[in-house]
Parts: sequence; C-alpha cells; structure tokens
Amino acid sequence: MMPDTGNAVLQEIPLPGNCQVWMKRDDLIHPLISGNKWRKLSCYLEAAREQGIRHIITAGGPFSNHILATACLCSAAGISCTALIRGRQQPDNHYRLIGARYGLVSVFLNHEQFEQRLEWVNIHHPGKDVMFIDVGGAGDLGVAGCASIWDEFSFVPDALLLATATGTTMQGVLMGRDERKLSTKVIGIPVLMNEPEQRAALEAKGYENWTLETGFERGGFARADESLMRFMGAEIQRTNILFDPVYTGKAWMALHAMLDGHFFNPGTRVVFLHTGGTLGLFSRRYLDFFR
Ligand SMILES: Cc1ncc(COP(=O)(O)O)c(C=O)c1O
Repeated sequence: MMPDTGNAVLQEIPLPGNCQVWMKRDDLIHPLISGNKWRKLSCYLEAAREQGIRHIITAGGPFSNHILATACLCSAAGISCTALIRGRQQPDNHYRLIGARYGLVSVFLNHEQFEQRLEWVNIHHPGKDVMFIDVGGAGDLGVAGCASIWDEFSFVPDALLLATATGTTMQGVLMGRDERKLSTKVIGIPVLMNEPEQRAALEAKGYENWTLETGFERGGFARADESLMRFMGAEIQRTNILFDPVYTGKAWMALHAMLDGHFFNPGTRVVFLHTGGTLGLFSRRYLDFFR
C-alpha cells in the first residue's frame, strides 16, 4: 500500500487556555511510512524512479522509524533495501522483525565504520543503480519533500509546532512556508540536546520567524521518565491519538506547557504537526511504565 496524504486531516483538539489548537494528522498517512517519514522519502522515491534505481541503502539507529519506513516503501515500489545500523548487532527488536518482513537486509556497523558509511556504500555497492539516503532522510531531497505540506492546510495558522531531531523536517516546512509567502511562525521542539547545531543550520539558510524551544528533551534522545509517560498515557486515552515518547510525546507535552505558560497571545491558531513514528511507543522499556 502506498502512502496517502489525503488521510492526514487537520483535527481540532480542545485544550485548556485561550488558543485554538489543531493537529495535522500526518500519523494517518500510512501505518509505517507515516508523518515526516513519507514527506522526506517522497522526493527520494521520485528520483529513484526517474534514475531507474534498483537498490536503496539507508542508515540509522536500531530503533529507526526512518529505516522501517524506507524498507516498507521500497517493498511497495519493487526496490531492494539495505539498512546500515549503528552499533554492534543487538537482539531483534520490533523494528527489525517488521523490516525483515518487507525484505530489509540489515548490516551492523560499529561506531567508527558508521562514521565512514558512505565509504562502505562505495566499496560494497559501486554501481550506478544504487541510491544512498542518509540518517533520517536528511539532505536536499528530504527537505524538499516536507515543503508541500502547506498545500494541505485549509487556513493559514499563526503558529506551527513540531518535534525536531536532525532539523530536516523543520527546514522543509520553513522552505515551503517562504515559497508560499505565509506568515506562520514555525516552532521546533528539539528532542535531544542538539539545539545549537539545529539553530546554526537554520540560521545558515537565512530563515526568519521561527524558534527552537528547549527544555523539553527530558534528559536526551529516547530518554523517558515517569511524568512524560503518565502524560502520554492520559493524552492517548483522552484524544484516541497515539504518541511516541521519543518525538511526538515530548513535543505534545511541550505544547501543553507553552499553553499553560501563556507563551502564545490569546486567540492564536496553533497547528501541531504529528510527525508519525508511533511504533516507538511499543518498546518494552516504555511499555513497562504503563504497568
Ligand atoms: C516521529 C518523528 N518525529 C520527528 C522526527 C524529527 O525529524 P527531523 O530529524 O527531520 O528533525 C523524527 C525523525 O525523523 C521522527 O521519526
């Protein structure tokens, strides 16, 4: 099944405070190729088709939403897929087991080898019919794929808020906003301690009218604690929308704190971009919090 952005509705969600909040339900694009995964991969797929690519190699951590989405998309497109996974071989997790169902071949590289991953690709797959997509779909095509999200909005929000890690999605969102001359402020919530790098990349591109709001990393990438998990459990039950503790749970919690702290002017129309990746919730270490 190919992804379909027609499912990714704008859903109004009642929240305390004097702002109006909608959620862009990009999590509904596809069960595995969801949210920013599809947006970042869409231009790569188009380029792969144009160039007659038969094999895609990508890279990431052992719990990578991006790798699984790439494997699933490649399978639908009839392209073979290899993932270079950072670190020593680990016991199978749900990402790898599902990826393997889609024909994904996993290669584990130690940290040093992983740093040289492009070299690995050139040595092992020197042919022209291979495309390499870097960690998280980063790169110009990944950015370009996120720009068109604005065409799916029925109004121009005052603010758009999203979880950020490599910053690729936010760059694409800003690019698309400026191409369309929209006034929306874009607010990124870093989910790891890399705000300076993300900031430098955005400043280098010369974008304006954006902020990165820190203090919501909860100790760092993929770290979770009792209060995040309790918050997520309650919000999943209240809204019937799934969040994951790595990305969207932290960003949704940030939006609640910002509304509580009167970060926005009264009447501000805020869109929260649900970037998908809800499979992240189903890791044992997170589910154990629900016991
Ligand atoms: C669910 C989810 N949200 C947000 C992000 C952050 O996206 P980016 O790395 O483009 O900043 C990711 C990573 O790709 C993700 O999987």
